Amino acid sequence: MAEHEITRDVVIVGAGAAGTTAANELRRAGLSVAVLEARDRVGGRLWTDEIEGAMLELGGQWVSPDQDALKETIAELGLETFDRYREGDSVYVGPDGAVHRFTGEMFPVSAETEAVIAEITERLDAMVAEIDPDRPWEHPNAAEWDSITWDAWLRRQTDDDEAVRNLAFATGSAMLTKPTHAFSLLQSLLMAASAGSYSNLVDADFILDKRVVGGLQQVPQLLAERLGDDVFLNQPVRTLEWSDQGVVAHADGMTVRATHAILAHAPVLYDRISFVPPLPRRQHQLHQHLSMGFVIKVHAVYDRPFWREQGLSGTAFSPYELSHEAYDNTNHGDERGTLVGFVSDQNADDLFTLSAEERKERILESLSHYYGPEAKNPVVYYESDWGSEEWTRGAYAASFDMGGLHRYGADLRTAVGPIHFACSDMAGAGYQHVDGAIRMGRLAASQILEKAGAEVAEA
Ligand code: FDA
Repeated sequence: MAEHEITRDVVIVGAGAAGTTAANELRRAGLSVAVLEARDRVGGRLWTDEIEGAMLELGGQWVSPDQDALKETIAELGLETFDRYREGDSVYVGPDGAVHRFTGEMFPVSAETEAVIAEITERLDAMVAEIDPDRPWEHPNAAEWDSITWDAWLRRQTDDDEAVRNLAFATGSAMLTKPTHAFSLLQSLLMAASAGSYSNLVDADFILDKRVVGGLQQVPQLLAERLGDDVFLNQPVRTLEWSDQGVVAHADGMTVRATHAILAHAPVLYDRISFVPPLPRRQHQLHQHLSMGFVIKVHAVYDRPFWREQGLSGTAFSPYELSHEAYDNTNHGDERGTLVGFVSDQNADDLFTLSAEERKERILESLSHYYGPEAKNPVVYYESDWGSEEWTRGAYAASFDMGGLHRYGADLRTAVGPIHFACSDMAGAGYQHVDGAIRMGRLAASQILEKAGAEVAEA
C-alpha cells in the first residue's frame, strides 16, 4: 500500500533532461505536474560528480553548434560554456601501430585511402541530405537501407580496410557504440542526419565543441529546482494503470493520479513497468527491437596537461586502438590536465572480463600510445560504467536492431491513450544527445497541451 497519494494533471516518469524539460513546459502552460525519479538524484545520463577531488563529467558533456534546443536552454538557465582545448597537433595511430601527428581535418593515410574516404564521405553526405532525421523511415530506400548492415554496405563500396574502419567508426564505436555489423545503414544515416551531415559527425571540432562551466548536469538540476516539491526522488515507478480517463502511477513510496503520463526514460526500461492493461502489441514488439549501446568513458587526471607541452591538442583517435578516441577534457580554469578516452562495444565487453587493475593498465597503455608514457601515471583515474546502472543499462543510448528502424520507427513517439514517450533515444535532430532529450520533452508536452486544449474546447 502506497504511503501517500497525490493528484496532478501530468505524471512524468524520469528526471533527466527530457522529463525536467517537459515538466517545466507543462507548468508554464498552467498544468500541474509530478516528476517521479527512480534514482536519488536528478539528471539521469547527465552526472557531474567529484571523484577524489576532481570534477568529472561521468555522462554527457559536449554541446555542438547545431544543438539549438540545448543551447537555448543553457542560455535561458544562465549557464556559461567554454571551448574544448584544441590547439596543436592531433594524433592518429595507423594499422601498423605507427603514431602520426597531424593538423586539419584529414588524418594521415595513404593518398589512395584518403581519396576513397573523401569519395565515400561525399556519397554519404548526399544520402544523409535526403533524409529527414525525424522521419528516416519515409525515405524511398528506407527498407533497402535498413536491411544491410553498416559494415557490409561500406565493404561493398571499397576493399580498402583502413578506409572502411575509419568511415565505420564514426557512427559505430564513436556514436551508436555497437559493433558495425549490428545495425543498419539506415540507422547509421539517421545518426549522421541528426547532426546535420556525416561530415559534421566526423568533425570533432563540430560535434565536441563546447562544455558547460560547472557541468552539464546543471541543466536538469536547475530545471528541477524550478519544479520545487513536485520532483520526487527514490520513486521508481513500478506499475502504471491507464485508461481513457487517465493514469495511476504506483512508485515505491507514493501513488500519483493524473490525466496524462510521460515516460521520460530510455525505452529499454519500459518493461520495468507493469502496464495495466498491457501496452498494445505494436509497442510490445517495437520495444523489443531497441537496445542500448555500450561504452566505457574513462577519465585520467594529471598534475598538468603535459601533452600541451609537446604541442598536442589532446585530440586522438584510431580504429585500431582500445581507446578508439580521446580528448583533452580539462575543466574550465583548472591547472591540472584531464584526458577522456572511450572504449566501445566488444572491446568494452572484453575489458569487463578483467580485474579493475588490468582494465586500468590496458586503458592507460592505449592512452600512452597517443600521448606518450606520462599518460600511464594519472593522479585520478575513473571509469564510468553505465552498463551496470540499473536505471540506464548502457551508453550512450538506444538504437534499433537490423530492420527495426524502418519497421517500427514511426510509432516510437506515438502516444498510447494517455501515455506519452519522451527521451533522447527517440529524437530526430539531436538523436542520442541532450539536445534531442530536450526536443522530445518539448514535443511530449506540446502533444499533451494540444489534447488538454481540445478537451477544454469540447467541455
Ligand atoms: P535519461 O536516461 O538521462 O533520464 C531518464 C531518467 O529516468 C533517469 O534519471 C532514470 O533514473 C529515470 N527512470 C528510469 N526508469 C524509471 C522508472 N521506472 N521510474 C522512475 N524513474 C525512472 N549527450 C550529449 O549531448 N553530449 C555528450 O557529450 C554526451 N556524452 C555522453 C556520455 C555518456 C557516458 C553517456 C551515458 C551519455 C552521453 N550523452 C551525451 C547522451 C546524453 O547524456 C543522453 O542522451 C541524455 O542525457 C538522455 O536524457 P533523457 O532525459 O532522455 O534520459
